Amino acid sequence: MRIQTKEDDQMNPKYKPLFEPFTFKSGVTIDNRITVAPMTHYASNEDGTISEAELDYIIPRSKEMGMVITACANVTPDGKAFPGQPAIHDDSNIPGLKKLAQAIQAQGAKAVVQIHHGGIECPSELVPQQEVVAPSDVFDDGKLIARALTDEEVENIVKAFGEATRRAIEAGFDGVEIHGANGYLIQQFYSPKTNQRTDRWGGSDEKRLAFPLAIVDEVKKAAAEHAKGAFLVGYRLSPEEPETPGLTMTETFTLVDALGDKELDYLHISLMDVNSKARRGADPTRTRMDLLNERVGNKVPLIAVGSIHSADDALAVIENGIPLVALGREILVDPDWTVKVKEGREKQIETVIKGTDKEKYHLPEPLWQAIVNTPGWVPYKD
Ligand SMILES: Cc1cc2nc3c(=O)[nH]c(=O)nc-3n(C[C@H](O)[C@H](O)[C@H](O)COP(=O)(O)O)c2cc1C
Repeated sequence: MRIQTKEDDQMNPKYKPLFEPFTFKSGVTIDNRITVAPMTHYASNEDGTISEAELDYIIPRSKEMGMVITACANVTPDGKAFPGQPAIHDDSNIPGLKKLAQAIQAQGAKAVVQIHHGGIECPSELVPQQEVVAPSDVFDDGKLIARALTDEEVENIVKAFGEATRRAIEAGFDGVEIHGANGYLIQQFYSPKTNQRTDRWGGSDEKRLAFPLAIVDEVKKAAAEHAKGAFLVGYRLSPEEPETPGLTMTETFTLVDALGDKELDYLHISLMDVNSKARRGADPTRTRMDLLNERVGNKVPLIAVGSIHSADDALAVIENGIPLVALGREILVDPDWTVKVKEGREKQIETVIKGTDKEKYHLPEPLWQAIVNTPGWVPYKD
């Protein structure tokens, strides 16, 4: 418990629900409902070990946060999807990961590492032998650009998620988030767009679910075997894909029904706009979050994310019955977002990165460059 300070008194009382503690099924308790969304920063060392630049970036963003979810970390060398991605595929990664967990926890937040395999999305120059792997062969203009994993390789990746969990525990993290969202390998196995297998890993909705569920089981097993205290396991998913064939809300309901039976600590619904409405397979007049909360919220708590800009936006989510919110770009723009709300200064939350104040943001150079060169992504002005 934090000691009450003068600042607590100054918070607008209507925001109190954002600052209620929350205890997950595993027993991990966070001090408030606000989490930092996982964000890739392209700034780990070339071998995937943690760099000073990413510590410098994460420390100011961990202040007054309930929980910080790190950038996605690859569980195998062939799962690396970004230059400067943190790695969690080897025990030599543990000392750096320990520094990362401690840096977050020293600010009072719980530290969760997102575990990931990029599959088709891995650029060939980042993976061993430039061999990109996927659920099924992928051709571009008749050229094979990603090859289907063998049954044994699939098994090995499942095990790698368990090993990554053991390393997260040894590094002192409070939990892991399985990255089943944003079109990476786990989603590629569930999606009819990318999985045309006919073995035990594909061929029907149920078989396409086998890989995500095997990973959940392996991660939970590793947590039970290795964690000495409370350790949480969350799962991130994207509810719909734009293409046909592609995941619809109908298939997402099947996924969350299955995940809801796995005693997970949370499901994190990856959206760019928390208020976006269902496109296919459900009532298109209702938001995906409402539909998913109604479907599975009584079994497993949800984290909402996506354009939750203001304290009132966050409050609206909580008042709508979703217990947790995550902030991504908002925290890149203003690392003091939560501090300001807590101190009654929510009107001072900044909404655009100013190129003239570069130093104050503590953003690693490659992330800074990505922001400057990708108009319309993270708000930025010269
Ligand atoms: C720079 C950046 C990096 C991101 N990296 C990840 C990532 O590693 N894993 C992930 O699941 N989502 C990632 N995302 C998506 C965010 O977690 C979040 O879902 C998205 O930005 C929408 O939330 P927001 O409107 O609060 O930014 C990233 C987003 C940004 C802006």
